[in-house]
Amino acid sequence: MLLQILLLPVLTIMSPSGEKREHLYKILVIGELGTGKTSFIKRYVHQFFSQNYRATIGVDFALKVLHWDANTIVRLQLWDIAGQERFGNMTRVYYKEAVGAFIVFDVTRSGTFDCVSKWKEDLDSKVQLPDGSPIPCILLANKCDQEKQGIVTQPERMDEYVRENGFAGWFETSAKENINIDEAARALVNKILINDKLITADANDAEKFNLSAADASADAKNKCSC
Ligand code: GTP
Ligand code: MG
Repeated sequence: MLLQILLLPVLTIMSPSGEKREHLYKILVIGELGTGKTSFIKRYVHQFFSQNYRATIGVDFALKVLHWDANTIVRLQLWDIAGQERFGNMTRVYYKEAVGAFIVFDVTRSGTFDCVSKWKEDLDSKVQLPDGSPIPCILLANKCDQEKQGIVTQPERMDEYVRENGFAGWFETSAKENINIDEAARALVNKILINDKLITADANDAEKFNLSAADASADAKNKCSC
């Protein structure tokens, strides 16, 4: 299963009729130790929550299949990266070819929010979309079933922070109480699909351009005396 996941490229398949689409997207879940990354994924994929904390070692994987609409299936390959990896060398390997990310902090420990910008910098410096732009990233203020501490008690300041730091949005979530888990994931997939369409459109344009360039050079050759 692990090998299968690792070998799967990020791909988009269209049926011969041109209507049914299947997308496979690699998504990263990063942030400080114990903020609830694994719990978020377990809740989202397996509708399950446990109070027991077992730190992730290295990286873990999960697959979520979404029937996005009548013509679109989206498979999300979720990479659950251990908080203890903390911007280390391995994150460059883990981030490769990701098209979206969640950065998770714990609303009960403001120190975990203070590290968010470092995680974002690490992400943006190590992975980009094929056109060079940053991958969409959603900030998760997790454990919102508990008493909050710091900036997250002021939603307007959070809005401003998210805007200034290039996030695609933010959600208060609770893996424990199943609050905003699906909503946050839907928001990220939405962004990814929009980017994917833009990039596919760009690639088609480039192809058209290349074809017309080829036509032009063929014409030129035909006119050439040699
Ligand atoms: P690392 O793998 O070490 O990076 O940690 P992690 O980010 O994967 O955290 P994990 O999901 O293992 O959760 C850490 C602890 O927080 C566990 O005891 C969870 O039960 C608890 N926890 C996670 N999410 C929530 C939540 O939404 N509410 C509450 N109350 N507890 C949570
Ligand atoms: Mg974990």
